[in-house]
Amino acid sequence: MDPKPPVLLAPSILAADFARLGEEVAAIDAAGADWIHVDVMDNHFVPNLTIGPMVVKALRPWSAKPFDVHLMVSPADALVEAFAEAGADILSVHPEAGPHLHRTLARIRALGKRAGVVLNPATPLQAVEPVLDMVDLVLVMSVNPGFGGQAFIEGALPRIAALRRMIDRTGRAIALEVDGGIGPETAASVVAAGATVLVAGTAAFRGGREAYAGNLAALRG
Ligand code: DX5
Ligand code: ZN
Repeated sequence: MDPKPPVLLAPSILAADFARLGEEVAAIDAAGADWIHVDVMDNHFVPNLTIGPMVVKALRPWSAKPFDVHLMVSPADALVEAFAEAGADILSVHPEAGPHLHRTLARIRALGKRAGVVLNPATPLQAVEPVLDMVDLVLVMSVNPGFGGQAFIEGALPRIAALRRMIDRTGRAIALEVDGGIGPETAASVVAAGATVLVAGTAAFRGGREAYAGNLAALRG
């Protein structure tokens, strides 16, 4: 059997210093980030307002790593193209953002980008099943979306394990990402349940830039 691939880390810049975002992206890249996670919030689908395509475009020259753009916006379709043009590599959407998940995923793929589906803590796993053949990534929320720094919801663990089985049955290399409340204490159980990509905001960006490499090493366990 092939050895288990190493877990990928996707630090969320939501926890970075917004006054120095370019330097923060470069610093977390140099510290060992695999992907750069960008949380896009619209004060409608979630109660917060963050980053638009112009900011992604401005950040693009600061890292060659994949930009993993988590769209917490409703509707998502109108923004998919703008983020793709701005430099997103992976675009993930929530089924509830609507109105037509299949169409949104097809649009992301037509733009040549990797497509993801995000499942909130109360969203049935079955929401992703009909479209598994067109996704590159499933993102399990282990907090309710909208803010960084929230506590990990333990109920995410059996959901990750169930998705692991669902993904394995497809035989396709679909990334299984987990987002929310991930730190050195929760990372191991999430990986044991079958996650392949960890998002971390607070735990990645705490302690100032000298701490970033150590923060990421602690997450890898
Ligand atoms: C929450 C976001 C997360 C958030 C994670 O809506 O999707 O990516 O930034 O932050 P921490 O790691 O602090 O829970
Ligand atoms: Zn996120």
